Amino acid sequence: MAERILIIEDDREFREMLTDALELKSYDVTAASSAEEGLTLLEAGVFDIVLTDVRLPGMSGIEAIPRLAAMAPRTDIVVMSAFSPKEAAVEAVRLGAYDFFAKPFSLAEMEIVIRRALEKRRLQNEVDRLRQSLEERGPGIRIVGEGAAMRRVVALIRKVAPLESTVLVTGESGTGKELVADTVHELSRRASGPFVKVNCAAIPENLLESELFGHEKGAFTGAAAARAGWFELAQGGTLLLDEIGDMPVSLQPKLLRAVEQKRIQRVGGRAEIAVDVRIVAATNQDLLTLSREKRFREDLYYRLNVASVSLPPLRERKEDLPLLAEHFVHRVNVRLGTEYKGVSADAMTELMACDWPGNVRQLANVIERAAILGESAYITGREVRLAFQKDLRPALAEDGENGDLPGAAAGGSGRTGGLCLKDTLREVERTLILGALDKAGGRQAEAARLLGISPKNLWNKLQKHGIGTGS
Ligand SMILES: Nc1ncnc2c1ncn2[C@@H]1O[C@H](COP(=O)(O)OP(=O)(O)OP(=O)(O)O)[C@@H](O)[C@H]1O
Ligand SMILES: [Mg+2]
Repeated sequence: MAERILIIEDDREFREMLTDALELKSYDVTAASSAEEGLTLLEAGVFDIVLTDVRLPGMSGIEAIPRLAAMAPRTDIVVMSAFSPKEAAVEAVRLGAYDFFAKPFSLAEMEIVIRRALEKRRLQNEVDRLRQSLEERGPGIRIVGEGAAMRRVVALIRKVAPLESTVLVTGESGTGKELVADTVHELSRRASGPFVKVNCAAIPENLLESELFGHEKGAFTGAAAARAGWFELAQGGTLLLDEIGDMPVSLQPKLLRAVEQKRIQRVGGRAEIAVDVRIVAATNQDLLTLSREKRFREDLYYRLNVASVSLPPLRERKEDLPLLAEHFVHRVNVRLGTEYKGVSADAMTELMACDWPGNVRQLANVIERAAILGESAYITGREVRLAFQKDLRPALAEDGENGDLPGAAAGGSGRTGGLCLKDTLREVERTLILGALDKAGGRQAEAARLLGISPKNLWNKLQKHGIGTGS
């Protein structure tokens, strides 16, 4: 089926020339001689692209852009103009146009832009189709992504979930490790049992043992009553040991025994308690490197890594972006009560251009922020740019250099709208740390707990940011 193009051009000669040329290229062309007529045609039919002149009798091409965009958010608008090209171009793009041409232009140039816009459109349709197939994928799987990498991940999860084997989930921050752990539990025979999550980095070292294994009355000062730990609470179900890389070395032998023998001892207790628990461990660190540095026991690593699911960073699976974006738009609708139909083509272009150092979680946040700003049926590029910029304002105030948030240091530009995400994330991190320290009255252990990271991790970050460690 030929792609449909709507031309809005008052100069009859130019209009007919363009119509003929594009028809020769097998496009289905409709022409209007004013913006008003163009709007009427757009209302009545579906077009892939609108090519509009700026100076028109009545409403100008620039004035028409927001109306055209509101009427057909998935139709790309290309503006062509012979006068004050620069100002008009900036204005046109700001209002939501996809591209701008200064007359005279060659047909070859024009065709490239048309083809690019159509390719984007094709992607959008693909998303609709994939969403359909996702809905048909059956129960239990909430992991979005139809690219080869995520298909492999989902296939692996389906295979290992019903087994009792321990699973190690790895991937950068925000890649979906917890979601994978959830899914493993849901697809296992333990689905009706408890699913207990422990963030090993968030619990102070001296408390972690009793949190995990429980304690008997009087085991230590403050242990007024006996208490079951996470292992016992997960009886018959699954226990997620999140941020396992931050598990203190001193606790690792006891954990190894619990994983191997499925038996534990409460702190201060002598009895061995059998625990019927399936372990899933997650980390964004490289455990083998940690084990070379003697920060993680090798034997524990091999015990945990019976089956391993590794999640690629989002920048390496951008083919999943359209579908993920749609997924989060849907989630935002549920959360905020909005009624967005999706993201517009130019918003998609913005999303595709980003490197996503914060991976899927960052994408979810950007979409949510953009949704708060939006005011039409689709989230547009304007809102996505603003959502990024909101992130970026603090970064602009200071000239930070290499931030090393997880993934942020990796290749690619990391820039969107000419602003650097990496620096922003670094700035956001700094602000959060200062805020936590403030709240904790300068006590680092407490600040680390508030931040949900290990004291050691916090210490490293303080060094990185050059925040005084004189507390
Ligand atoms: N493939 C996916 N499909 C749908 N949602 C996803 C996907 N991957 C991640 N998410 C969502 O992104 C957010 C972050 O994911 P999650 O918490 O699982 O990441 P994580 O790898 O555990 O991050 P961290 O290392 O920071 O703990 C969650 O809201 C999760 O539901
Ligand atoms: Mg997590």
